[in-house]
Amino acid sequence: MSLNHYFYEMNKPNRIYFIIGVSAVGKTTVGKTLSQLLNIPFFDADDFHPQSNKQKMINGIPLTDGDRRSWLISLNKLALEQSVLKGGVIACSALKKSYRELLRQNIKSPVKWIFLDGGFELLKQRLSKRKEHFMPISLLQSQFDTLEKPDDAFCISVDLTEDQINNQILDELGKSEFGLIGLGVMGKSLSRNIASKGFSLSVFNRFVAGKEENIAADFQKKYAELFDAKPFEVIEAFVKSLQRPRKIFLMIQAGKTVDAVIEQILPFLESGDVIMDGGNSHYLDTERRIKFLNDKGIYFLGIGVSGGEQGALNGPAIMPGGNREAYNLSGYILESIAAKDMQQQACCGFVGKGGSGHFVKMVHNGIEYAEMQLLAEVYQIFKYGLGISNDAIAKMLNAWRSSEADSYLLEITIDILQRKENGAYLLEKVLDKAANKGTGNWTTVAASELGVPISVLTGALFARYISAFKEMRVEASKVLPADKKVNFMLDSETIRKAYQLARWVNHHQGIHLLSEASLKYEWDLNLSEITRVWTNGCIIRSKMMEKLSDYLKDDSQLLLNQNVVEIVKQSKDSLKELIKNAVQNDLPISCFSEALNYLNAYSQKESPANLIQAQRDYFGAHLYQRKNDISGNRYHTNWDPKQNA
Ligand code: 6PG
Repeated sequence: MSLNHYFYEMNKPNRIYFIIGVSAVGKTTVGKTLSQLLNIPFFDADDFHPQSNKQKMINGIPLTDGDRRSWLISLNKLALEQSVLKGGVIACSALKKSYRELLRQNIKSPVKWIFLDGGFELLKQRLSKRKEHFMPISLLQSQFDTLEKPDDAFCISVDLTEDQINNQILDELGKSEFGLIGLGVMGKSLSRNIASKGFSLSVFNRFVAGKEENIAADFQKKYAELFDAKPFEVIEAFVKSLQRPRKIFLMIQAGKTVDAVIEQILPFLESGDVIMDGGNSHYLDTERRIKFLNDKGIYFLGIGVSGGEQGALNGPAIMPGGNREAYNLSGYILESIAAKDMQQQACCGFVGKGGSGHFVKMVHNGIEYAEMQLLAEVYQIFKYGLGISNDAIAKMLNAWRSSEADSYLLEITIDILQRKENGAYLLEKVLDKAANKGTGNWTTVAASELGVPISVLTGALFARYISAFKEMRVEASKVLPADKKVNFMLDSETIRKAYQLARWVNHHQGIHLLSEASLKYEWDLNLSEITRVWTNGCIIRSKMMEKLSDYLKDDSQLLLNQNVVEIVKQSKDSLKELIKNAVQNDLPISCFSEALNYLNAYSQKESPANLIQAQRDYFGAHLYQRKNDISGNRYHTNWDPKQNA
């Protein structure tokens, strides 16, 4: 065995093959042959029937759902056991969809359904020749009546010869379980991750003469774990290389490219196939694509994937939304490649219907923007406020890592601060213009449309926008120079406490946005589960996220959770102190100040919005409500003193 093959054998998931269909289709014969070919054990479900079921069948009485339940449970237990041992082939009628769901329940490794399809007359003939079996011919009709043909199985007609059937099955199993389109940085890393878990994979990259040639083939040759992967540049051959129902993952640029690729693969797809979009697509585009494809019998999942190149390779956080059925077909692969949380659970879970997966990823990115901006503001305070060197800042931030302030973004910030090039800090050579790919903007727009105040996130977005006007800032700095009035009087602990509090406000706002979207779109989002998925693999993973996920089990408003209330009480003075120092020295701190303003507005019993209402009514007769008027009536007053005179 070659080293590559050894690697594959060590990692390959223990697959379960169910050979299914009504009585006399030849499940046992086909199953036994397959088990020999694959060198895995064979089980006949008939052997698992309790005597009472067998007796009923001998007496010509059809089994009911109730009769079959304990039998199916014992077969599910068998399949579960085999899935952690060597895998196995199980011959079982599995007539109804609900039976198949029960059979595959909780199995984390691949389950392949092979449906042997035969006509009534042929099977009746066969049954009449079967002597030793307890199933009488009279029950065949009841089996046909019960049968719900699977749409997620490989179907073979039993009109074929035994050899033809076996060859067709082998041909099918020789195809790939998963296909990935788009071999950019993320696509390559995800492909390697998938292949390293033992899944058979086809990869596709487009051919662009002189620019993108042989990308898939060269990539496949480069990595040991891809020894078994099939590379393609022709879309039809790629689609045909996949087992049915096909599972095709798009790791391509969000936007029009996704629609274009869907159009290209669509002619070769069949009903029940699944397309997954792993890019940062807009959730409304995802909703549109789900509808468009569902009308054609194709499933679609909009999947948020976070973690960058390393995450994609070693375990990203995965947020799939869309057709639940599609997740049932492909979730085991996604869960197997995802990062693991503290309890070793996959950082991947079905989010909800429609565009919810991409919406959740978008909010993740909104929170990410603010997490990054808060760290940028901390750096600015240390550097320009306190005049500390990058190494010294890194040292202080490193000390924060043993506290709840620890996060992936803090970790990489420390590395960045210390990085030198030719003896000088590289960071100081980086142009101070922040770019963006749009997800922060989408978060802000979505929040505005839903009427949710996410001011810290928006503060981060606008901080990026103003940074981009470098030339304008340079010009303005000559006319309106910063006025450094006082010496900064801040210690690292005060800054850390302010930072932590601002982070809680940021996360509170992001969660608030999710909960309002969940209500509006009827997604029924599980906020604790979503944040559990965010505890590892993704860019905003942090110590705080672990707590947060726990708190969200009881409180949907984070800032009202008793533990967070304590943090607010203990840290608000630090936040004020930090803002006071920054403001007095003309240092912009959008996120810190938005966090404090939000906290004050959020907990303000009497706001000045009564004046806004009066103004609206004055100039536009927009009506207003009166305090203590429980009827909810709306009033108009002619406020103009001239007209009242
Ligand atoms: C992630 C990142 C990823 C990407 C951002 C960058 O979760 O892995 O969020 O999706 O790096 O979209 O976004 P900007 O270019 O807008 O900063």
